[in-house]
Amino acid sequence: MNYPDKVRIVEVGPRDGLQNEKSIISTDTKIKFINILSKSGLQNIEAGAFVSPKWVPQMADSAEVFNNIEKNPNISYPMLVPNQQGMEKALESGVQEIAIFAAASESFSQKNINCTIKESLDRFLPVIESAKDNNIKVRGYLSCVLGCPYEGDIAVETVSNTAKTLFDMGCYEISLGDTIGVGTPLKTERMLESVMLHINKENLAVHFHDTYGQALANILIALQKGIAVIDSSIGGLGGCPYAKGASGNVATEDVLYMLSGMGIKTGIDSASLKQASDFIFKYLDKESNSKYRLALNG
Ligand code: HMG
Ligand code: MG
Repeated sequence: MNYPDKVRIVEVGPRDGLQNEKSIISTDTKIKFINILSKSGLQNIEAGAFVSPKWVPQMADSAEVFNNIEKNPNISYPMLVPNQQGMEKALESGVQEIAIFAAASESFSQKNINCTIKESLDRFLPVIESAKDNNIKVRGYLSCVLGCPYEGDIAVETVSNTAKTLFDMGCYEISLGDTIGVGTPLKTERMLESVMLHINKENLAVHFHDTYGQALANILIALQKGIAVIDSSIGGLGGCPYAKGASGNVATEDVLYMLSGMGIKTGIDSASLKQASDFIFKYLDKESNSKYRLALNG
């Protein structure tokens, strides 16, 4: 079996991780959290979201967070952007990478961003144009690729066609999201095979929530398919407010443990990650989901 030599981890803890948290996390804590993460060797840290503060109050201070983090020039700090209004904020803050987000499920699209899939793609066109004009990289998320909280199974053709559309619109990478963590390995394999008919593995990432403990098994399948970009969240934080039942993302510490055990390089220092995890969990009303972190603690 061939595996990639090197994997790039996209840390989504400060955005996906915190967006669903009930505890009030101060702007200063978010800034310190990202600054600690920046010292771990991560190359991509999703720092926040320019979405409506009424929809996702926890992300309301994203501009302040972004403007005050110590930016390492070797790290990309993408911000989620749902529409032109979000794009204007990205431009004001001098963001160098944005992530747009669409869904493979109509019902989830309505619940999450209040429009149909087609309307969302139409909305993203001027956002992408404006990003191009300003030399801003655009990453594309596709949610519900292995199931939807409202519709259940989603046809693989819908997933692969929507992923292709997003990619053709100008995203440099499509992150395939198992938003509610219902995927299992063979289902993941079928979905990836269908998407890879249209998009090269070099332009794909995987984003697994870990509701049923399937994320690492699914990631192994993605690695076997040659996909070398993995989204994860420190301590397994995460969840989408509009996807009932969605548990946390796969824990970055657990992904790192698996990859280092397989001899796959990430450039990330696990001790610094643990520092970031210990820091943020002091402010949250829960324990880390990472088995690796627990093992380290004895
Ligand atoms: P809407 O209500 O249809 O928007 O929401 P609207 O254009 O009608 O505007 C309504 C109000 O929102 C107005 O304010 C606008 O100014 C304001 P009002 O006049 O009522 O005071 N507004 C904004 N404010 C700040 N920033 C903006 C913005 N846009 C409008 N960008 C909208 C549509 C898309 C804005 C809303 O539905 C929204 O913000 N949704 C975001 C939901 C979200 O963030 N979900 C979580 C992220 S996605 C995810 O977690 C999945 C992922 O991890 C992958 C996976 O796991 O699958 C990425
Ligand atoms: Mg997510």
